[in-house]
Amino acid sequence: MKATAKAHSNIALIKYWGKRDERLNLPAVGSISLTLDALHTVTSVHFDSALNDDELILNDEKAGDKETARISAFLDLIRQMAGMTHKARINSQNNFPTAAGLASSASAFAALALAAAKAAGLSLSRKELSVLARQGSGSAARSVYGGLVEMKRGSAADGRDAYAVRLAEPDYWDLRLLIAVTSEAKKPVGSTAGMRLSERTSPYYHAWVDNSENDLQDMRQAVQQKDFEKVGELCEFSALKMHALALSSNPGLIYWNGATVEGMHVVRSLRRTGLPVWFTIDAGPQLKALCLPEAAAKVTEALQNVPGVRQVIECRTGPDALVLNEEAPL
Ligand code: DP6
Repeated sequence: MKATAKAHSNIALIKYWGKRDERLNLPAVGSISLTLDALHTVTSVHFDSALNDDELILNDEKAGDKETARISAFLDLIRQMAGMTHKARINSQNNFPTAAGLASSASAFAALALAAAKAAGLSLSRKELSVLARQGSGSAARSVYGGLVEMKRGSAADGRDAYAVRLAEPDYWDLRLLIAVTSEAKKPVGSTAGMRLSERTSPYYHAWVDNSENDLQDMRQAVQQKDFEKVGELCEFSALKMHALALSSNPGLIYWNGATVEGMHVVRSLRRTGLPVWFTIDAGPQLKALCLPEAAAKVTEALQNVPGVRQVIECRTGPDALVLNEEAPL
């Protein structure tokens, strides 16, 4: 009744923003992501009949009630599937500082889904794990796989067709994502609340949803053709569209700080010198630059020189999520 699993974070190149069903956490749009080697979560789950409540330790500290409740609700799904009621002791560690504004629900829920399913004695396929992880956090459905990954929006009301699929194996393409950390503060409006606000208030919401299939199709093709310039263009386009949606919500969601904006200009000025680099930004102020290995040193240096950038973390394409205390993953 015990298992440990490791999952890597991911960055969406085509963004997920909006839900078609909030209870089941079904996305309104599909998304495409790159799994990242440098950021991961390792989670152990121990179901124990002696426990009265679930106990969550996050980065060596007892988690707060709100976090524990979110994890408990997620474990209820697994307890239900396994037909058992034991509470669990969960220990979760990120290899990156949670305070660095990089804390990602993607690696957290992918690692938890895998460890808890294994500890509960369930043998799930990657597709089933992705469906499960999605119910913890939409982006987590993608972290079940390494490499380049597509999350399917699906259309079934029960969410059985809303899961991630692999677009390309981890060794298909050596890409670099450079994360310029511009703030260590916790973001004021999280993704879930931000999406809800955009859906309710942005006049652009329906245009965003209606256009998403084109972006996904173009990105699939660009990945298949290894057309880096096209991937970069689509990645920047999707990020700016998502932020246009956030900005056009009421009250507008401004996830950027001055260094984020300056970073965008720096990436574009590097591009004007002929360097193939594009940016993306999630629901927070960190600027992420996508490039090929040969450009990484130059881009890192330029981002480090942006006033307000605290550090630059270099990520490569990351691997599949895996169970750690077993020889054969899954
Ligand atoms: C901006 O997966 O964190 O990073 O499903 O509500 O947990 P919930 O949202 P989450 O949202 C990620 C939003 C994003 C874009 C993306 O990763 O696709």
